[in-house]
Amino acid sequence: MLEKVEALLKEVDSFKSEDANEIEQFRIRLLSKKGEITNLFTQFKDVPNEQKKEFGQKLNELKTKAFDKVNSLKESSGSDATSEDKLDLSRPAEAMQLGSRHPISIVRNEIIDIFAKIGFNVSEGPEIEDDWHNFTALNFPEEHPARDMQDTFFIDKDVALRTHTSSVQVRVMEGGKPPIRTISPGRVFRNEAISARAHCIFHQVEGLYIDKNVSFADLKQNLMYFAKEMFGEETEIRLRPSYFPFTEPSAEVDVSCMLCKGKGCNVCKNSGFLEILGCGMVDPNVLENCGIDSKEYTGFAFGMGIERIAMLKFGVNDLRHFFENDIRFLDQFQGTI
Ligand code: DAH
Repeated sequence: MLEKVEALLKEVDSFKSEDANEIEQFRIRLLSKKGEITNLFTQFKDVPNEQKKEFGQKLNELKTKAFDKVNSLKESSGSDATSEDKLDLSRPAEAMQLGSRHPISIVRNEIIDIFAKIGFNVSEGPEIEDDWHNFTALNFPEEHPARDMQDTFFIDKDVALRTHTSSVQVRVMEGGKPPIRTISPGRVFRNEAISARAHCIFHQVEGLYIDKNVSFADLKQNLMYFAKEMFGEETEIRLRPSYFPFTEPSAEVDVSCMLCKGKGCNVCKNSGFLEILGCGMVDPNVLENCGIDSKEYTGFAFGMGIERIAMLKFGVNDLRHFFENDIRFLDQFQGTI
């Protein structure tokens, strides 16, 4: 009888089939109520005592192997009734979770694209900056109160986290010759209390155009083009005189409110306009500090906050949303490129 068990073990080992019927026949022949393995179990009592142990072990092994074999063959042939029951071909597919770009990246890329169309390239500079590039070269004299316009995180006496991306204009001018047409997007840092309208880390884009005969009219034209591309063809701009140490004359630029179309609403505080950036003609002192002959060249510069543009464009009323990485907020930008 032991030989019979061993023969069946070999048969189970070598049995192969993909045919559901054949597999079922095999199962019936070995494992059904009247199957060969079941029979061997009933004959167990007739086995001589000294062989019972070995016989019992082998027979159990045979039964387990036969079960496993039948199950695995059924599964791979697809004839397993239970897996067929579970397979519902009409069930909707599971939604794929796609990631999306952060709104700040979306707006930064859009600004880059808009200016690339009129010949601006992209330049970058370090976030940890020295006093020369962040202040002195930009016409902020030492001890000058204008330095207090920006609350600075100092690392050392002469080293700080840059307070604006204007530092990159200095690096670009020092490192190259006009004509220069560049925009510099990047992260900036200011020691400010965090609120719905301010953060200690935010993003800016600096613009710089240096060539012969660049005028204030060119500046206005470039900014009008930008405003219309970013906020829509019907957008108007307004320039108000302002002060920055590195530009003369300087201006602040407002765009007509995209929500009320300039009629006045609570977002624009009934003025019909929203401030979006600072700009001006590069001060001759700055050109000279950076090794550019101010008698031969003139230029304009501008700087804007990316968060500010994104808030206006997407109707976000709290700047902190951009930094919290709450999926419920970020999800709303799915599909925006
Ligand atoms: N750097 C200024 C700021 O952070 C923004 C700015 C104003 C940049 C006027 C400019 C400019 O290039 O011409 O507030």
